[in-house]
Amino acid sequence: KKVIFSAIQPSGTITLGNYLGALKNWISLQDEYNCIYALADLHTITVRQDPAKFRHNTLEAYALLLACGLDPEKSPFFIQSQVCTHAQLAWILNCYTQFGELQRMTQFKDKAAKHADNVNAGLFTYPSLMAADILLYQADLVPVGADQKQHLELARNIAERFNGIYSPTFTVPDGYIPKKGARIMSLQDPSKKMSKSDENVNGYVAVLDKPEVILRKFKRAVTDSDACVRYAEGKDGINNLMGIYSVVTGLSYEQIEKDFEGKGYGDFKAAVGEAVVEHLRPIQERYADYIKNKDYLEKCYTEGAQKALAISSRTLNKVMKKVGFVSKA
Ligand code: TYM
Repeated sequence: KKVIFSAIQPSGTITLGNYLGALKNWISLQDEYNCIYALADLHTITVRQDPAKFRHNTLEAYALLLACGLDPEKSPFFIQSQVCTHAQLAWILNCYTQFGELQRMTQFKDKAAKHADNVNAGLFTYPSLMAADILLYQADLVPVGADQKQHLELARNIAERFNGIYSPTFTVPDGYIPKKGARIMSLQDPSKKMSKSDENVNGYVAVLDKPEVILRKFKRAVTDSDACVRYAEGKDGINNLMGIYSVVTGLSYEQIEKDFEGKGYGDFKAAVGEAVVEHLRPIQERYADYIKNKDYLEKCYTEGAQKALAISSRTLNKVMKKVGFVSKA
């Protein structure tokens, strides 16, 4: 079976963009592949966090992923900071990653501009930690949204470089990016991706938003003056809504255009909102149960960390030997 690895940062709200771009695939790949998933909390501290909130967000994200259908018996699911091999391999890979390569990362440039008061070294070397996450598990496929493509490409380059200097050590991973949903845009500015760090809360839908909030956010979504539901260039707002609607209902664009022929944007936006509410309802219900059960969560992430450590240590040991570190007795 092929190996799948992916991770998400527990940095506050998990959005509909995270869900449709990545998490939905994490769940659907579980039966066919050997999947390993993580909360990338080491990545999260590249931006300053309030300790109590950070701890809460991490547990919330863990419970939410279980509620989405992640089965920790099938797919080890762990918290990155609890598995020491990640930071260890990240350091080593830092020494096989060029300054210039990291400098070209568009996410670094964006984040450095946004958090100009805290452009720390971790923010800069973030992609080598992400490469370590993936390469430790010899992952073949990495389900992510389109915004992670550049980081993934760098992980491939680092793997190939290391394999070339020594001998085949790492599987060179491929992205697994959905055809629809890979780039969910802000509901308020459809030229920007939907992001939980948006100052305008109407720009994103959180997976845990209350139904009335979801309906209201879709009602307020920015569209255009064309007043015709069809997928076309220059209709970014409508294209985005059609993408969301298509993924949650399974309807094709042609079918959606037919169904809404002669109808206004108001009707369409209400339909999208309702479809999203219905899609998220069972997830929200299961979440309410999981988050109350701290003992169960602890059992799951502890077991997940043990499994992840066992698998990832094999790769780390190989790497350390090849580099020339003296083996521990
Ligand atoms: P993060 O936490 O920002 O996002 C988690 C996943 O959600 C996807 N995503 C989106 N997809 C579609 N539309 C959007 N608007 C949207 N916003 C986010 C992201 O592409 C991602 O798949 N660096 C990663 C976390 C990470 C990781 C890894 C991923 C750490 N190590 C190893 C894969 C493999 C990140 O910050 O994702």
